[in-house]
Amino acid sequence: MKGPCIIAWLFSSLGWWRLAQPETDASQCQRAEHPVISYKEIGPWLREFRAKNAVDFSQLTFDPGQKELVVGARNYLFRLQLEDLSLIQAVEWECDEATKKACYSKGKSQEECQNYIRVLLVGGDRLFTCGTNAFTPVCTNRTLSNLTEIHDQISGMARCPYSPQHNSTALLTAGGELYAATAMDFPGRDPAIYRSLGVLPPLRTAQYNSKWLNEPNFVSSYDIGNFTYFFFRENAVEHDCGKTVFSRAARVCKNDIGGRFLLEDTWTTFMKARLNCSRPGEVPFYYNELQSTFFLPELDLIYGIFTTNVNSIAASAVCVFNLSAISQAFNGPFKYQENSRSAWLPYPNPNPNFQCGTVDQGLYVNLTERNLQDAQKFILMHEVVQPVTAVPSFMEDNSHFSHLAVDVVQGRDVLVHIIYLATGCLEQTEIWGNSSMVVQLLTVAASANKPVLDV
Ligand SMILES: *[C@@H]1O[C@H](CO)[C@@H](O)[C@H](O)[C@H]1NC(C)=O
Ligand SMILES: *[C@@H]1O[C@H](CO)[C@@H](O)[C@H](O)[C@H]1NC(C)=O
Ligand SMILES: *[C@@H]1O[C@H](CO)[C@@H](O)[C@H](O)[C@H]1NC(C)=O
Ligand SMILES: *[C@@H]1O[C@H](CO)[C@@H](O)[C@H](O)[C@H]1NC(C)=O
Ligand SMILES: *[C@@H]1O[C@H](CO)[C@@H](O)[C@H](O)[C@H]1NC(C)=O
Ligand SMILES: *[C@@H]1O[C@H](CO)[C@@H](O)[C@H](O)[C@H]1NC(C)=O
Ligand SMILES: *[C@@H]1O[C@H](CO)[C@@H](O)[C@H](O)[C@H]1NC(C)=O
Ligand SMILES: *[C@@H]1O[C@H](CO)[C@@H](O)[C@H](O)[C@H]1NC(C)=O
Repeated sequence: MKGPCIIAWLFSSLGWWRLAQPETDASQCQRAEHPVISYKEIGPWLREFRAKNAVDFSQLTFDPGQKELVVGARNYLFRLQLEDLSLIQAVEWECDEATKKACYSKGKSQEECQNYIRVLLVGGDRLFTCGTNAFTPVCTNRTLSNLTEIHDQISGMARCPYSPQHNSTALLTAGGELYAATAMDFPGRDPAIYRSLGVLPPLRTAQYNSKWLNEPNFVSSYDIGNFTYFFFRENAVEHDCGKTVFSRAARVCKNDIGGRFLLEDTWTTFMKARLNCSRPGEVPFYYNELQSTFFLPELDLIYGIFTTNVNSIAASAVCVFNLSAISQAFNGPFKYQENSRSAWLPYPNPNPNFQCGTVDQGLYVNLTERNLQDAQKFILMHEVVQPVTAVPSFMEDNSHFSHLAVDVVQGRDVLVHIIYLATGCLEQTEIWGNSSMVVQLLTVAASANKPVLDV
């Protein structure tokens, strides 16, 4: 843990992003633009959970009744009362000795050869959870109200990363399909967005094809309408001078069943678009690297933390994207490169307003209405998704924010969006070691469900 953990409050009214300050804390504010409250000051309002030997509290989810918090840590699963974070159940989930030994023999450290929980999803009365299991990922299906009760254990390959360092995301649909975006192999060279379980055929993104995914770091995923959306950052394949990372929104149709002859076992509806988060100016200053998102379904808004590259000056920003602006980019032209030496050019969308409809293909079940040649050729959208406001909702230099949560409360005249940001809490060197810090951060995220402002 380097430096203090700071939680910043940003109050902004919908549309104008006006900045205000909580009255009681006005005197303590260190900065003019927005109040910054130190960890100590917020202490009395925070609940805290610690457990001996438990580190890397990286995943959390709620039970359907929103009374319990389920937490995934290294080698542990916990159920906590949401109200006060008191422990309901702690379950140890460790790798067996043979798996650990095999892990060491592949040259991995003791720190890495552990079970890092990376998938934690609630489906009805079940908890579907996966862990890295010493580079042998494994998934279990458990009773939510008694996490020691395991119904099923299946391979975590293509569902959970092998390495605790690899960033991944996953979701379960109401139909029981698991969508996971993760590295599929031990070295992490084969990233994919992969669907499995449920009744639909398993599908993935094209393998070893940098136009589909180019060294991605997956951030989040959401089940919205006919589509599953994925948010990530990756090396920009369309940027031809030097290595640059861009942030993306991608989507696939949930009723996609893959191609026939072409694109077998592969998405036929995969598309992606760049997200623009930048400080306007003669030369815009880009925050290219998406770190975390928060979806407000009531307003169809996606909030994202974007940062600069770790090798350049540190700076973070929050940009807000309207889901309809994202859909609009997907309805527009594609960016297409004829061959590796030609330029990327806009190409008209053969299928604007594409809605995941299907066409009868005779012998086979209906394929999605996208032409398979097009589906193989056109992946990247030409238009860049612009945020709701040209100026980011929040910007700060010398900081790398890592997590955010958003709450909307009714102010006197307007809806007030409260953005909770966290920084410095996750330290890579200890593989995200400081347990108390991370859970305190999670608590802040949890309290975002309540009509807050107890500051
Ligand atoms: C978990 O188990 C239940 C009951 O056996 C089953 O209906 C469900 O599909 C399983 N979920 C997953 C994700 O495997
Ligand atoms: C939880 O499940 C385990 C394993 O099936 C069982 O031994 C235990 O009694 C259960 N606990 C409760 C409180 O039901
Ligand atoms: C995963 O994301 C974190 C936070 O952005 C980053 O520090 C880390 O390097 C990423 N992991 C990999 C393997 O790129
Ligand atoms: C991103 O937004 C900035 C500020 O509005 C704008 O100047 C710039 O042209 C945009 N860049 C792209 C690639 O759309
Ligand atoms: C999002 O876009 C829709 C359609 O363009 C618009 O009606 C709505 O006001 C937008 N929301 C925000 C917060 O800008
Ligand atoms: C979902 O797709 C169907 C066609 O498969 C279309 O008729 C419907 O309008 C779409 N729903 C939404 C919310 O766009
Ligand atoms: C296949 O498409 C045809 C025509 O679009 C439609 O009438 C039929 O219901 C579809 N069948 C399935 C299984 O979706
Ligand atoms: C976690 O951080 C807090 C605050 O900096 C510190 O007091 C505590 O000792 C740390 N715990 C561990 C296990 O490093």
